[in-house]
Amino acid sequence: MESDYDARAELHEVHMPPVWERLRSVIGDAFGDIGPDGVIVDIGAGSGLGAAMVASVTGAEIIALEPNPTMRAMLVARLDTAGVLDRVTVLPDAVPDGLEDLPRQVDGIIAAHMLGHLTDATRASLLDWVAASLASGRSALLTVSADAEAEGEAPAVEERSVGRLVYRVTHQPSTPGRYEGLFEVIDDQQRVVRSLQDATSWESVTVDDVRAALAGQAVEVTEPQTGVAIVTKPAAS
Ligand SMILES: C[S@@+](CC[C@H](N)C(=O)[O-])C[C@H]1O[C@@H](n2cnc3c(N)ncnc32)[C@H](O)[C@@H]1O
Repeated sequence: MESDYDARAELHEVHMPPVWERLRSVIGDAFGDIGPDGVIVDIGAGSGLGAAMVASVTGAEIIALEPNPTMRAMLVARLDTAGVLDRVTVLPDAVPDGLEDLPRQVDGIIAAHMLGHLTDATRASLLDWVAASLASGRSALLTVSADAEAEGEAPAVEERSVGRLVYRVTHQPSTPGRYEGLFEVIDDQQRVVRSLQDATSWESVTVDDVRAALAGQAVEVTEPQTGVAIVTKPAAS
């Protein structure tokens, strides 16, 4: 079965807040000085965890591009609850076509946990747009695949308690270009009361892949922590 964010939204959501907590300091470093005149674009914004975190550390306007309606509904609810919906524009578009409707110059870009969904050509379009659209001195935060050694250390199973139930995801070995995982909900008798076998096309994209794609463009790529690529357009001198 191909990955379907309508079907997996709830099961996936439960496991994402700890992932975003690990990004909090790099989000602050990359975007913390952007004020109300700034614009930050969140590409493939999902349920809005990243947009909400960015909104909490900046005064910036946020544009969230997210093609899936279930994820968009979660995003709108989250940002409304956070009290920041007045400065968040939600666009129901996908890369690459959705890039055409974005401002020509922006002060920050996020593309988190989504580059692997893109084809090589679409990812190249996105990275070209990042290099062309960043204002001088501003950065994009992209999450990338960790190197093979670090990936081996990643937990194959993640669990989180939700009331009387435990939500578990087991990341399964899969062929290159694919992700497979089993989502399960387990009750206090250790019975699996719900399960979803998930599979999707997912390319491993490393920081070196990002560097190679952006070679020759007027940007610098750094990796401040494993799995995070920061693309910066140097300030005009
Ligand atoms: C794993 S989720 C990550 C969501 C969010 N960025 C986060 O880190 O919490 C991947 C998201 O990418 C979105 N996506 C997939 N293909 C896309 C495309 N071509 N353009 C924009 N978003 C896309 C999906 O709808 C989904 O919401």
